[in-house]
Amino acid sequence: MPVETIRWVGRLDGWVELVDQTLLPGEFTYVTCETPEQVWEAIRALRVRGAPAIGIAAAMGLVLGVRDSEARDFDAFMADLIQVRDCLATSRPTAVNLFWALQRMERTARDNADLPIPELKQRLLDEALRILEEDKDTCRRIGRRGAELLRDGDTVLTHCNAGGLATADYGTAVAVLFAAKEQGKHVRAFADETRPLLQGARLTTWELRQAGIPVTLICDSTAAQVMKEGRVSAVVVGADRIAANGDTANKIGTYGLSVLAREHGIPFYVAAPASTFDLSLRHGSEIPIEQRDAEEVTRWGGRATAPDGIEVYNPAFDVTPAKNITAIITERGVIREPNAEKIARLLGGGQ
Ligand code: MRU
Repeated sequence: MPVETIRWVGRLDGWVELVDQTLLPGEFTYVTCETPEQVWEAIRALRVRGAPAIGIAAAMGLVLGVRDSEARDFDAFMADLIQVRDCLATSRPTAVNLFWALQRMERTARDNADLPIPELKQRLLDEALRILEEDKDTCRRIGRRGAELLRDGDTVLTHCNAGGLATADYGTAVAVLFAAKEQGKHVRAFADETRPLLQGARLTTWELRQAGIPVTLICDSTAAQVMKEGRVSAVVVGADRIAANGDTANKIGTYGLSVLAREHGIPFYVAAPASTFDLSLRHGSEIPIEQRDAEEVTRWGGRATAPDGIEVYNPAFDVTPAKNITAIITERGVIREPNAEKIARLLGGGQ
């Protein structure tokens, strides 16, 4: 059974529970969030992480923030909602699903401006739950489409964690492996450990092992060698934001993998839902890249791993140019050799 990454417990006066991913693989614990500030902290601290899961958390965080609003008319209610939205929007800058989900929640409120405020609040909870449910279906579609690109016996190299934990429950890049297994294919994986926060080592290996898919953990710097040894059939990664031309932001190190894959003639796939595209940005150079604390690089497990005060550069993401991407796998179809025209055609109906 897939893990439930995030859930709403109870009715409108309920709360959010999410797997605290900072504790995995040692401890599998749900943390409770009853305020938008707690959701903000959970996103910021990567207790909940991965673009689609961040979007779901933000939508639920918005509900937590407006359900006790004492506003008596729509305009006053919207003023409260905008305040909560703006706060949640500062939690992390790169994954566009965060902003997509908040916009969708705001649109839901505006589309239901004629409802009494208590009903409007319920309507917003329904929408957040719909985002969660849609993600489950979307990820399964991505998985099935991606699995068709794999053959029996293939080995996939993946980076960071684009598994169930990064979504409602099934993943994007890792969903391709899950679905291939469900289709009866024997597939294996290499998981990059993914410095500095080790999402690959801590989360991806944990998920794949639970699913019964053989996985070998490698240091990030080992990727070139396993490719050279001819042991990688395809690279499959997730995405945090895809520009209109197909340039893709994903966990730092992804760009390097795309260059390596090209050099070794290995297909490089990005698996992501339509909600990860940002058609307002023409090129990847416009994607805001999160810079994180130096301590993520200089310390581990409470111990120093570098001299005190050393200068650190710690971008959380990099951008892979569309030209290095063999195909983008979405729930609506597979875009081979992605470019602006093909992306616009596939997403023409909106996101
Ligand atoms: O910093 P993180 O752990 O949130 O980064 C996550 C990734 O880079 C994932 O690959 C991406 O969000 C896709 S998740 C389906």
